[in-house]
Amino acid sequence: MNEKLEQIRKEAIKQIENSDALEKLNEIRVNFLGKKGELTAVLKSMKDVAPEDRPKVGQLVNETRAEIEKVLEEAIKKMENLKREAQMKAEVIDVTLPAKKNAVGHSHPNVIAMEEVQRIFIGMGYEVVEGPEIETDYYNFEALNIPADHPAKDEQDTFYINGDFLLRTQTSGTQVHVMEKGKLPIRMIAPGRVFRSDEVDATHSPSFHQIEGLVIDKHITFADLKGTLAEFSKELFGEDTKVRFRPHHFNFTEPSAEMDISCFKCGGDGCRFCKGTGWIEILGCGMVHPNVLKMSKIDPEEYTGFAFGIGLERIALLKYEIDDMRLLYENDARFLKQF
Ligand code: DAH
Repeated sequence: MNEKLEQIRKEAIKQIENSDALEKLNEIRVNFLGKKGELTAVLKSMKDVAPEDRPKVGQLVNETRAEIEKVLEEAIKKMENLKREAQMKAEVIDVTLPAKKNAVGHSHPNVIAMEEVQRIFIGMGYEVVEGPEIETDYYNFEALNIPADHPAKDEQDTFYINGDFLLRTQTSGTQVHVMEKGKLPIRMIAPGRVFRSDEVDATHSPSFHQIEGLVIDKHITFADLKGTLAEFSKELFGEDTKVRFRPHHFNFTEPSAEMDISCFKCGGDGCRFCKGTGWIEILGCGMVHPNVLKMSKIDPEEYTGFAFGIGLERIALLKYEIDDMRLLYENDARFLKQF
């Protein structure tokens, strides 16, 4: 028995010393110490040993097991260290290499302009609301006092989804949604995307953005409209900015106007930027038409209001002196990086 154990011990140690991989060491552990291993087999054959010798043989088996385990553990540790060293060598990092630059994103000029406009109106106590991009004929036209035979309803300008639904051609429909809620007074802006079946060129796109404004309360007059929009223009384009209102026509306002700002480039003397006129048109506006109020169940005898519609792209193009609207949609990173 002693010899047998000694043989096992020697054989195990020899195999351990000769192994060159962790997997092999594990195999050796199973072969010698495992449930079906050689040492276990010896323990199982204890029944053939004389009872008085059993404690001694048992002790010897345990000692052999302990020694094999010890040698095995040391070999495993050594092997792991070698492996780690090799790994460290392979993964060495050159800390003197220049770092990779993080690509930092930029806000799109449209977004910057939109946030700036919102900031100004929020500062004046306006609420920002969102209207649906898909509208019915009622909200986009009829409730805005645009009759069924109006040219704006022509297929050429409007993307119809089907007979009932269309892509809104203006954010003005959001005025109606807000008025219908019946909560007065109203002081809101509604920024959003609008759609028209226009060809793409330097000043047109089938999809662009507007910012609608609506104020309704008792005793609102055209003077409130002028004061508000003059203040807005100064905030957006600088303290020296002057405004002028030219009569215009919109179905949903009466009277209606277009507002120009004095050219912030030449101060009004006339330059290439303002096409020599000294003025730049930036929005449409007017006093809410009594018919529009009535259709949304607001009594025009008691309440009045003003509305305005700003083309967001126009503001972005002016503010950043960009002369082609297509640049805003092409997502050329070299262009966008500048903002
Ligand atoms: N909805 C008009 C357009 O798309 C812009 C506009 C003009 C909006 C006058 C208004 C307004 O609210 O009062 O051309």
